[in-house]
Amino acid sequence: MKIDVGWFARFGALGFVCLLWTPGIGQAQYCGVGGGPVCDPGLVCEPVSATTGLCCPDDPMTGQPPVCIGPSGPPAATVLASDLIGLLGLASDPALAADLFTGPWTNWYRDGRERGLAKLALMRGILETYNLTDMYVGGATGVPLVTDPARPSPMCPPGDYAARTLDGSCNDPLNPLMGARGTRFGRNVPLAGAHADPSMLLEPNPRKVSLSLLRRRIGRFQPVPFLNNLAGAWTQFQIHDWFDHGRPHTRDVIEVPLSRWDPLRFTRGLDTLIVPATRADPTRVAGRDDALPPTFTNEVTHWWDGSQIYGSDDATAHRLRAHHGGRLRVQADGLLPVGSRGYSDTGMRENFWVGLELLHTIFALEHNAIADMLAATYPSWDDERLFQTARLINAALIAKIHTLEWTPAILPNSSLDVAMNTNWYGLNHFACPPLPEIPGLYPNPVVYGVVGNAAGRDLHDAAYAMTEEFVSVYRMHPLLPEVFAVRSARSGRLRQIVPTGRTRDGGGRQLVERHGMTDMLYTFGTSHPGALVLGNYPRFLQDIEIPGRGVMDMGTVDVLRDRERGVPRYNQARQMLGMPPVPDFLTLTGGDRGLAHRLQRVYGTIDRLDLMVGTFAEAQRPSCYGFGETLFQVFTLMATRRLQADRYYTELYNADTYTNEGLIWVEANSMKSVLLRHFPDLADTGLAHVDNAFYPWE
Ligand code: HEM
Repeated sequence: MKIDVGWFARFGALGFVCLLWTPGIGQAQYCGVGGGPVCDPGLVCEPVSATTGLCCPDDPMTGQPPVCIGPSGPPAATVLASDLIGLLGLASDPALAADLFTGPWTNWYRDGRERGLAKLALMRGILETYNLTDMYVGGATGVPLVTDPARPSPMCPPGDYAARTLDGSCNDPLNPLMGARGTRFGRNVPLAGAHADPSMLLEPNPRKVSLSLLRRRIGRFQPVPFLNNLAGAWTQFQIHDWFDHGRPHTRDVIEVPLSRWDPLRFTRGLDTLIVPATRADPTRVAGRDDALPPTFTNEVTHWWDGSQIYGSDDATAHRLRAHHGGRLRVQADGLLPVGSRGYSDTGMRENFWVGLELLHTIFALEHNAIADMLAATYPSWDDERLFQTARLINAALIAKIHTLEWTPAILPNSSLDVAMNTNWYGLNHFACPPLPEIPGLYPNPVVYGVVGNAAGRDLHDAAYAMTEEFVSVYRMHPLLPEVFAVRSARSGRLRQIVPTGRTRDGGGRQLVERHGMTDMLYTFGTSHPGALVLGNYPRFLQDIEIPGRGVMDMGTVDVLRDRERGVPRYNQARQMLGMPPVPDFLTLTGGDRGLAHRLQRVYGTIDRLDLMVGTFAEAQRPSCYGFGETLFQVFTLMATRRLQADRYYTELYNADTYTNEGLIWVEANSMKSVLLRHFPDLADTGLAHVDNAFYPWE
């Protein structure tokens, strides 16, 4: 990070003469110390316990009592120009690097805002330097990816206007296949640490891990009290835009032996669980790629381009488009057309359930609203241009909702809220007046933001791709509750209780047809997803039939996939991500002897602990986050990367490409405004009282 701190010293006075934007400052309230939350309705407490929802006791380091945050955002989400100066100076101070950890844990959230943000910026900078590895020989920036010799790099002819391609190619005309569908996942660990060890594939038995450590006990659902179920469904909606390893191989299988008392023996008559291996990388070339760890390819585009809505290939997009007015096909009743197996036809249809049914419908409707706005403003545009521009705007709105609404909702911490706003807008957004483009500093994305920063695009010397470790940390199946209580939005009356397993595929579509979008959204808005902790894995996913794959236990599969794909185990991953290893199970579980003992029984030693299991077991969470710091490390890195690598969020995020009206649309809208546009009856529900639509609506 190149920072001219001296310049700031000279302009330091700015901070003192400015009237600064201080959103939500009036909302700060103090909670009862040590007791349950006494926040007003719609407010949540920070720090809040991820598992119990109670306010955390006073922070032992600072002695600060918890505060209530929301619905208008965290208190004092403001960085003074003078803070900004101090922050930049701090982030470039080598002494700060020596103070990133207390014991094995990060400590940025225990510091004041300025120092905490400086630490976040520093950690991200370190990760960007050491933890972005692409999986192509010679695939670094500017060197076109060589994939399958049978699939030569496409030529990217200049068009009249910039538009995303369906398969994600030509985002960068100098490296046309970068981020395209069918290219490899990258890694967040060095190649040497990314090799799978076949002899350890079943060590310990992943089904044992699933049953002994992951399984949710009957009647013991652990909710996240400060989130609603839209936030859980949203997570999967997003990952379906970013990655999919595709349907597995049918012949090559992994056999997982079942114990004598395994329930699957009695319910399904099985003595072995057969897990098809991940589909092999068809672009791997013998000789050339032999030294590489296992490689796998992405079935969808790696970019944040709304491919889950539009598809990643021509045939899908052609089927979904209305071919007039730039619109997508939607039925007269406002639902998506029905595709095969009785549920909505859309760009990505794997692992579908009612949560995805809702979100895919909403953002197809949003696409059409944007296309209509563009058609009215630019009557001479043809269907193609209207479609392409509406897609860009819709995808950017989704990216903004994820960055500025979903993330601060699941990670309720005011410094993080500033950091996410900084990702999008830059710290300059909080300064008044904004700093000009200062030589030596501009286009530093920390100050000037990533989005729309023409010169802020940065690949950090690794071709852009989603990574195996990123897939791993998004294995968030515990978000799914066991049942949904469907309620009327108008009266709150209970209409039906439906097990989540029955909302899959055609079951989800039937629910939406029976109860309507408004009641289903209300049901999601007023109920809670599961916490990302051990003992909270949905039972229905542990004995599930997937069409074409037979009986599966997703808990077993989650563990097995990471081992098969060479994702390092928990402590190894931490070290490769620049974090100290955790010394023992008791430290990991924050002193919970019972849990530590159970982990010990299954794993023997902490160095064998799987990454996903370790992240669920982490008791130490920054300000009681929805998830722990190991996962957060990968998250921090990749959240910025998705924006920073993409020309459509950096140099092409301008009025020429998006239209002025499009930029305003992205800026002016939020998850709440989108919901209210298409389902105005929700204005009479608790949604009216929350700013962030992922907070519980009552
Ligand atoms: C009813 C809902 C869901 C069902 C039926 C389901 C089922 C599945 C299945 C069958 C797979 C592929 C397993 C394999 O590797 O063979 C999978 C992968 C995955 N799921 Fe889910 N899932 C659901 C919800 C979710 C949610 C809410 C999340 C949260 C983020 C999630 C995250 C993932 C991830 C990260 C993968 C790995 C994808 C990959 O390997 O490319 N899933 N799921």
